[in-house]
Amino acid sequence: MYTKLNTSHTASAPVHEMTLRDIIFNDDIKFILSGGKGGVGKTSCAGAMAVLSAQRGLRTLVVSTDPAHSLSDSFDQNLSGGEIVDIDGMDNLWGMEIDTEKGMKEFQEQLGQSGSADMEMASQFLGGTESMALPGSDEAMAFGKMLEFMADTNFDRVVFDTAPTGHTLKLLELPDLLDSWLGKLLTLRQRLSAMMSGLKAFFGGAEEQDRSWEMLQETKEKIRAARVALADPQLTQFVVVMIPEAMAVFETQRLLASLNTWSIPVTNIIVNQLVPENPDCRFCSNRRRMQQANLKDIRDLYHDLYITEVPLFDHEIRGIEELTMLGKILIGEE
Ligand SMILES: Nc1ncnc2c1ncn2[C@@H]1O[C@H](COP(=O)(O)OP(=O)(O)OP(=O)(O)O)[C@@H](O)[C@H]1O
Ligand SMILES: [Mg+2]
Repeated sequence: MYTKLNTSHTASAPVHEMTLRDIIFNDDIKFILSGGKGGVGKTSCAGAMAVLSAQRGLRTLVVSTDPAHSLSDSFDQNLSGGEIVDIDGMDNLWGMEIDTEKGMKEFQEQLGQSGSADMEMASQFLGGTESMALPGSDEAMAFGKMLEFMADTNFDRVVFDTAPTGHTLKLLELPDLLDSWLGKLLTLRQRLSAMMSGLKAFFGGAEEQDRSWEMLQETKEKIRAARVALADPQLTQFVVVMIPEAMAVFETQRLLASLNTWSIPVTNIIVNQLVPENPDCRFCSNRRRMQQANLKDIRDLYHDLYITEVPLFDHEIRGIEELTMLGKILIGEE
């Protein structure tokens, strides 16, 4: 029914042995990404993994890169506004929903302040060249923030609550895309610069300090560093969340294939919302049968990955207490 994927590249032998518990308890793991299809429990699992990390004493930041945020709902606390917020009732835990509009304004202001004539000229030139079109602003802004947090030494660990697969794939293809885009821009700048200094020398103008190009160069280096970190299984783990239903399996296949091409390490899948046994309820029994059949396929397909099963609760998962409970299931303590 499903196509088998080769996921074995994703981790070298010792890291491959990493269960969810090992990920949480391994202080070297700096970045955890929680991802998967819409509505499967990505935010709840990101929240739970962040709570577990903070409870262990790691200074932890949980960030939502999903433009349709629900981290605030999950923590039952307002985390919107694009600023890092202290999470109530927890030591060592901070949260933030990335505000892409605010980020875009900040970026434009930065460019405006450091703006230069040849930067503008190059942008116009690039704008007219289809192959050099700038990536979508939502993802670019989320990625910009991601870069910032990946370089932030204030936190021991950053847990990213990502958007449903499509958006997240666009986000994760950005490092390669931006790297090549910035490379072209910088080459063009070199050519323009030679031309401009020729002109300036001719007209007797002074050489201006140009921060925008320096900024681009720095950004390019940050992107390279993030790309390396994202592919390092000693630093990064992408935890795939899914439910035992055919549509989620198909989407997980696509997600794993892309993560595979970018060498983003995956060793764990969380299969969420498993209907518990209840012989008195026909509806529950039917759903359970369907889910168990899919679970068997999932186990076959991903026999080289750790699979953690999470039951469907009879209530929503909201607030620290609930997230702690989910966390205990994730690390096998309940
Ligand atoms: N095991 C579970 N049992 C009961 N409810 C759950 C379970 N897992 C998640 N939920 C609930 O399902 C809803 C969706 O969960 P969550 O927001 O974590 O999913 P998501 O994958 O982040 O969704 P989105 O794609 O919209 O971001 C929430 O109301 C959450 O409380
Ligand atoms: Mg979510």
